[in-house]
Amino acid sequence: MRNLIIANWKMFYGPVKAGAWVRAFRRERLPKDLEISIAVPAVSLAAARASLGRATIPALAAQNSFWEKEGAYTGEISPSMLLEFGVSMCIVGHSERRTYLGETDEMVAKKAAALQKVGIVPVICVGETDVQRKKGQAKRVVKSQVTKAIADLKPDGRAPAVIAYEPIWAIGSGKPCSAVEAKEMHDVIRDVLEKAWGGRYRDEIRVIYGGSVTDRNIYEYVSTNGIDGALVGGASLDPRQFALLCRASTPA
Ligand code: 13P
Repeated sequence: MRNLIIANWKMFYGPVKAGAWVRAFRRERLPKDLEISIAVPAVSLAAARASLGRATIPALAAQNSFWEKEGAYTGEISPSMLLEFGVSMCIVGHSERRTYLGETDEMVAKKAAALQKVGIVPVICVGETDVQRKKGQAKRVVKSQVTKAIADLKPDGRAPAVIAYEPIWAIGSGKPCSAVEAKEMHDVIRDVLEKAWGGRYRDEIRVIYGGSVTDRNIYEYVSTNGIDGALVGGASLDPRQFALLCRASTPA
């Protein structure tokens, strides 16, 4: 299974800057055996697609989507609308959406299932807060988040889910979770996958890590058994720095 690195621009870069980012990134040397995706703001999908043309590297991803196909849901965007831009993946349940927009596990489950139905890979984000970790609740919290999020998903098919373990205390803090600690939580996530879907899916579903990943620590994560890639925020905003990070994820 190839490693997967996803850039999450968050709320940065409208169409003008998005197009420039893509053109700059396309000029960079990239490892062949790596899957790369960029999650851009919805308003920048068209510009990113225009700059990408038919190129599939990087693949185009979205940061959110709604669970209904269409209807009276002001401001929302459906999975089939994302498909029109050639979106192949979509982040769901990012902690920032859970915190600032009140996204619940139930909403995350509905969004993930709706995406999978149209063939878009849901990238489900889970992770504990600092307080939860200090209280020894991290494993319980993440187990519950994953169990609820995958409730309506199918393990196989065109768009098997990706789980992103993003401890909230490590996001944007410059204090990454160690690869050893991340692996421990990835094992907990794999236990849930195995219990829900059977042993085969313990290793077949990709579990990636996010939180203060840079070109300096990426290799430590992806060279750890059980960590299948990374979800990268801050270090993805500069196309050259992100390309460097991608190159640093493969052995020299
Ligand atoms: P940072 O890489 O900036 O810590 O962000 C991680 C993240 O939230 C990616 O989704």
